[in-house]
Amino acid sequence: MTDLVSLRDEASDSSATGRNGSVIRAVSLNAFFGAVHAVRDVSLAVPTNEVTAIIGPSGCGKSTLLRTFNRMHETVPTARVSGQVFFHDQDIYGDDVNPITLRRHVGMVFQRPTPFPTMSIRDNVAAGLRVQPGDRPDRKQVDEIVERALREAALWDEVKDRLKTSATGISGGQQQRLCIARALATAPHVLLLDEPTASLDPLSTQKVEELVYELRKTMTVIIVTHNMQQAARVSDRTIFMLAGELVETAPTRILFTTPNDPRTEAYITGRFG
Ligand SMILES: Nc1ncnc2c1ncn2[C@@H]1O[C@H](COP(=O)(O)OP(=O)(O)OP(=O)(O)O)[C@@H](O)[C@H]1O
Ligand SMILES: [Mg+2]
Repeated sequence: MTDLVSLRDEASDSSATGRNGSVIRAVSLNAFFGAVHAVRDVSLAVPTNEVTAIIGPSGCGKSTLLRTFNRMHETVPTARVSGQVFFHDQDIYGDDVNPITLRRHVGMVFQRPTPFPTMSIRDNVAAGLRVQPGDRPDRKQVDEIVERALREAALWDEVKDRLKTSATGISGGQQQRLCIARALATAPHVLLLDEPTASLDPLSTQKVEELVYELRKTMTVIIVTHNMQQAARVSDRTIFMLAGELVETAPTRILFTTPNDPRTEAYITGRFG
């Protein structure tokens, strides 16, 4: 396969960040579940080192769009995609792309915390490092990566004395930050977050939001949220979707104050959704 890993090393080279400085670019993208046409002809460019929020009413295709960006969509049996998604300048649906490798570069965190229940905190964070046989770092390297990822996820201080205990013994908010640490351990370029605070209390939500805000210094974050205040707090750009279509994308402040499309205005002012 084409070496996606090498793209990472080229990331500081502007030629590797794609046209318009975008790390993810979709062109005429459609996604289906059997006969359900969930994402309709979406074209967009996600700027590097920014937080992009995706908002819109339930069922409009936010999660599906997000899951086309790292080929998680195809893990559903009836799922199908047409059109293109570029990671840097590489078409991720090309025959030569290994989706497992892709997902190390375009990591994902889901709505509910999904720690591996039989694994320790440490091993949960390290789980993504094991994917490629032969390329496994030694124990000391793993420990360093685990510590870095847990620090980045703002969880290190809370778990450093119990790294070997079960990941199910920590709170839901901590488990979600653990899942973020697991995604960060492979040093992804892009982090996809699908309503990451939906099951969290306000304090845990605040911690995750602060983290998202920090992460954009080093990576690109795309976050699906139902919470418009959250989109306004954490994102640089916002995408508004309706019935599978991308209605509008703009800098967050503009989208929430002077949207172009009357449907966006109706949604953000609470007239539907
Ligand atoms: N596994 C699936 N099988 C069949 N249809 C699905 C599946 N997952 C989603 N859909 C359909 O695809 C469309 C888009 O769903 P999606 O989950 O992307 O919406 P969403 O905007 O994320 O909604 P929510 O805000 O409720 O999470 C909906 O019509 C939904 O019913
Ligand atoms: Mg969803």
